[in-house]
Formats: sequence, C-alpha cells, structure tokens
Amino acid sequence: VAVLNLGGSVICPSGPDVGYIQRLLAGLSDIRPLAIVVGGGSTARAYIGAGRELELNQFQLDLLGIAATRLNALLVAGAIPDGVFVEGVEEAAAVYGAAVPVLGGTEPGHTTDAVSLLLAEALGEEDVVIVTKVGGVYDRDPTSHPDARILEEVEAGALLREASEKGSTAGARYVLDPLSLIIAMRSGIRIRVIGPDPEDVRGALLGQEVGGTLVLPR
Ligand code: UTP
Repeated sequence: VAVLNLGGSVICPSGPDVGYIQRLLAGLSDIRPLAIVVGGGSTARAYIGAGRELELNQFQLDLLGIAATRLNALLVAGAIPDGVFVEGVEEAAAVYGAAVPVLGGTEPGHTTDAVSLLLAEALGEEDVVIVTKVGGVYDRDPTSHPDARILEEVEAGALLREASEKGSTAGARYVLDPLSLIIAMRSGIRIRVIGPDPEDVRGALLGQEVGGTLVLPR
C-alpha cells in the first residue's frame, strides 16, 4: 500500500490537530514509498459555509475547499523530512519514490477521495488507505440509525448504485465520492477505509488486518 488519504475530519477536526499529526507521522517514517492526500476538514467547512452565505456558485465553493485542503497538505508536507507539497497528480507521480508527495484537492467536482484513487491509478498502485473519523462504511446511515454497524467488506459497484439512486445528499454511509468508486472499479484498486488510530494507519499501510471496511473494486 502506498497511497494514504488523511481525511480532513482527522487532521483538522476544528483547526489543525498538531498532536495527532505528530503521532501519526512518527509511525510512518519508515514506510516508503508513500504518497499522501490530505482533506480540508473544519477549514474547508468554514470557508464553504461562508461562500454559501455569500451565494458563491458550486465551482467557487469547490475552489475554496481545494484551497483549504492545500493548506492542510502544506502543513503535513512540511512536517515530513522528505515530504514535498505538490498541486497535482502528475507532479506527485513524478516525485514519488524519491520523496513523499503530499497534495490536497486538484480540481472542482470531486473530493480528495477521488484524488487518492487517481493518484493510485497514475502510480500503478492497487491499494488506497482512507483514514476517516467514522472508521469505515456503515450498513446504514449512522447519524439516523444509532445501531448502524461498520461493514467488513462492500462492493464499490453497490455503493455507486445506491449513491446514484439516493442522490448526493445520501448521508454519512457514503464516505466515498462517486468518482473515487468509478476509478477504483476501472483500475481494480482496493480501498481500505479505517479510523484514525495511528497504529491502525501504520498497520493498514503494511497490509495488516486493522478493521474498518474493505471496498472491493467490483
Ligand atoms: P475533502 O476531500 O476534504 O472533502 O475536500 P469532504 O469529503 O467533503 O470532507 P470530509 O472528508 O468529509 O471532511 C473538501 C472540499 O474541497 C473541494 C470540495 O468542495 C470538497 O467538499 N474539493 C476537494 C474539490 O473541489 N476538488 C478536489 O479535488 C478536492
């Protein structure tokens, strides 16, 4: 496993979580090659919320989100001795192996989930680890069903069908954006969605069983 997606909810829950970033990165220092994609978290939400109040359009809101993800990516890249901040997937692929490319979002219309999958595709990697606060894909929306459980495995095709039937407001069960599922399926990339525990992140990158959900590329 070589592509790691750090969800904004774990890196920047209500501002950047420096202690967590330090603990996490300490456990990754010997895992190479590695590429990291970073989400926007509370910074993205604050700016997108402000943009909505000011009636910016969706494209403009996405640009605000991208800027927030890049701010977090700059922070993470700076905290890794051989980390290098890049803006796009091609640049990340060009430095991969010689350094740890760290990037946020790339263009409007998707989230950093899709960036991670596109990066894995560009690198020829077959595994992506996505770290989220919720720790996996649930059998139903956990915000309205307190008894919802994390699935051990789910097919990308099933998530994609449900998302297109229910629309983009489908709720917390849908932790992966549709484009990421499409890329996973077309290139046979497995997605492991896990919780924030630094030991689990390390274990997942080493291919160990750490719980969460395995999203199968079919
Ligand atoms: P995130 O990847 O953090 O989105 O990007 P998210 O899934 O909504 O956040 P979490 O993981 O639940 O916390 C933040 C926002 O930045 C824009 C989108 O508006 C996205 O919602 N974005 C991000 C893009 O437009 N393009 C990208 O490539 C990445």
